[in-house]
Amino acid sequence: MKISVIGGGYVGLVTGTCFAELGHDVTIIEIDPEKVRAINNGKPPIYENGLEDLLGKNTGKRLHASIGYESVASAEIVLISVGTPPKPDGSANLSYIESASTSLGKALKNTSAYCVVVVKSTVPPGTTEKIVRPAVLRAAGKTEKEIGFVMNPEFLREGRAVDDFLHPDRIVIGSSDPRAGDRVAEVYTNLRVPVLRTDLTAAEMIKYTSNAFLATKISFSNEIGNICKNLNIDVYEVMKGVGLDPRIGPLFLNAGAGFGGSCFPKDVSALVSLAKEAGENPVLLESVLAVNEHQPDRIIALLEKRIGTLSGKRIAVLGLAFKDNTDDIRDSRAIPVIETLVKKGAWVTAYDPMAIPNMQRLFPSIEYCSSTAGALTGADGCLVMTEWPEFSRLDKEFDLMTHKVIIEGRRILSRKEIEGICW
Ligand code: UGA
Repeated sequence: MKISVIGGGYVGLVTGTCFAELGHDVTIIEIDPEKVRAINNGKPPIYENGLEDLLGKNTGKRLHASIGYESVASAEIVLISVGTPPKPDGSANLSYIESASTSLGKALKNTSAYCVVVVKSTVPPGTTEKIVRPAVLRAAGKTEKEIGFVMNPEFLREGRAVDDFLHPDRIVIGSSDPRAGDRVAEVYTNLRVPVLRTDLTAAEMIKYTSNAFLATKISFSNEIGNICKNLNIDVYEVMKGVGLDPRIGPLFLNAGAGFGGSCFPKDVSALVSLAKEAGENPVLLESVLAVNEHQPDRIIALLEKRIGTLSGKRIAVLGLAFKDNTDDIRDSRAIPVIETLVKKGAWVTAYDPMAIPNMQRLFPSIEYCSSTAGALTGADGCLVMTEWPEFSRLDKEFDLMTHKVIIEGRRILSRKEIEGICW
């Protein structure tokens, strides 16, 4: 099928590349010329496991990138995959969705074939019907008989997005009419997974609810972990026992420094905002965010308890990315930790296998090291903030510290003498 994808960010790029891999003819429309050049040269502008291989395989054949909307004229499906960043009040900023819809409508003005517009971005319920649909139809001067609308949320995890796309656990297709939904179901036929057909608003809400539930599992585990630490009980043993209940499940029960990234904090805040607009008082969701905000303070408090005042102390922060296998630092729990350490007068030495260049832009004045050994040398304390598997192999490196006070915010170091944030 001929597919255009508006937005070459992480979701648009992975989705477009994987559709090309499935045999479709894909054009990614992106306003940043640097990204267009990179994609057309087969070089991913972001790091994502396995993406470079797939880009190399498909670029110039079934995959192209362009700044203009020309490809839309012959597209059978057009995906909108632009950002919905949070506004200062936590609600989703839909200005990119609106402008993409209008540009898309204009590009569809002189076409005659039926086309389906698919919203991939995470958007509040009602957006596809009340914002995207009227903007596209108005700009195109067409009716819904000529352009169909679908909401098809993504469930890709950064660092594992290619694998998640090619081996999904479900596909959700919300549509206002069966013809539009059928066409989108067709592009996924090779994937052989359960497909849920529903309406536009339910599909939009499924995405928010999935992320809010996963974030709730994490904050719940963190609260239990905080209680367990006080009672001298290992929360990981507890959650192992709890997760064996199939009604609960073993995944996303890892207690630690809390959730970061570009999705959970943003989507839970947007859902809180939506709830309040609807006249509800979302106490549970607000607590999920509150527990998450508080976890970084706990790791600092534990450090202070062990080494006293932080002023003038050398503190190694291992892990800057919001999780392993990515260079993304958005809402990383390392950010508030470094902020507080600096405010309290500590000298921060930092190491991460991938995320140093991104963190340098945010904190240009802390000391970045090219190895864990470099960061640990002479340190009075060490905080582990990301679950990088390579940290689990650390051993002799800790002997380089002046004082061996090590506190992990992720359960990754398999050493008994190491204290955990909530274990
Ligand atoms: C998340 C969801 O997992 C995806 O299904 C969804 O598609 C995506 O958001 C999105 O909306 O685009 P992602 O943010 O890439 O994916 O990362 P996760 O692997 O979910 O991790 C999020 C954060 O939670 C990380 O900071 C991680 O360290 C933390 N986490 C995860 C825990 O603290 N404990 C856990 O048990 C699991």
